[in-house]
Amino acid sequence: MYSYSDYVESAKALCRKLGEFCPEVLIILGSGLGRLGERLKDPISVPYSEIPHMHASTAPGHKGRFLAGELGGKQVLMMQGRLHIYEGRTAEEAVFPIRVARLTGIEKMIVTNAAGGVNESYKPGELMLISDFIKLNSVNPLIGPNIEEFGPRFPDMTRVFDREYMGLFNDIAASHGESVHEGVYFYTTGPQYETPAEIRAMRILGADAVGMSTVPECIAARHCGMRILGITLVTNMAAGILDKPLSGEEVVEAGNAASDRLSSYVTEFLGRL
Ligand code: HPA
Repeated sequence: MYSYSDYVESAKALCRKLGEFCPEVLIILGSGLGRLGERLKDPISVPYSEIPHMHASTAPGHKGRFLAGELGGKQVLMMQGRLHIYEGRTAEEAVFPIRVARLTGIEKMIVTNAAGGVNESYKPGELMLISDFIKLNSVNPLIGPNIEEFGPRFPDMTRVFDREYMGLFNDIAASHGESVHEGVYFYTTGPQYETPAEIRAMRILGADAVGMSTVPECIAARHCGMRILGITLVTNMAAGILDKPLSGEEVVEAGNAASDRLSSYVTEFLGRL
């Protein structure tokens, strides 16, 4: 369990490393999407291990450091590598960096992820703006004593994802001739991929994509009042849709293939924020 003073201590340590730099947007880079970090000019790199109370990231394609720099004319803080619950982190640990970022003054978050397409009309390589999520009763970063400094005990989740941000991103993709989906992200802890029966059940419940990240982070970010844009890259069709097994390599490869395109859209988005 962290106390509020742990977050404050970590935020102070991060601010010391950032010096004059004062990021206004947090960007979380998903599997294979870490290359967005290469677009930062002279970034300040802060490995998670240099921040008190923070854990390293062990997932493939996740480096485990903050990168701060300018992108699209905005000062941003990137998480190149996130913490997943399947790595053995608690939900509270997984969202620790989001709360630390909030305490440095950041109020906006762009979260990206790789996910399986549950909606059968989706295709690998397509983008989906997350309009809502389904988590039901699995792990939750807000379980435990509520930290009032961040937000209320029972936070509202009626609109987690910012409509204005979604509209802006949509316009940017459209100006490049691409139409992006808007859909519901179903959260599972993983690390095993789903069974075909689970995917059928998720579809009945209203899911369009399934993944192992993002939702704990968005819950924590909304709890502390951040505005969120959530972008899913459909890296594969979910289990049982195509007649082939799923693999982590396929996910990272699809992430790499889409990385430049998604990076351009995010850069433009920041320019118009
Ligand atoms: N399921 C869960 N998580 C994922 C998938 C999937 O099919 N693809 C990428 N992340």
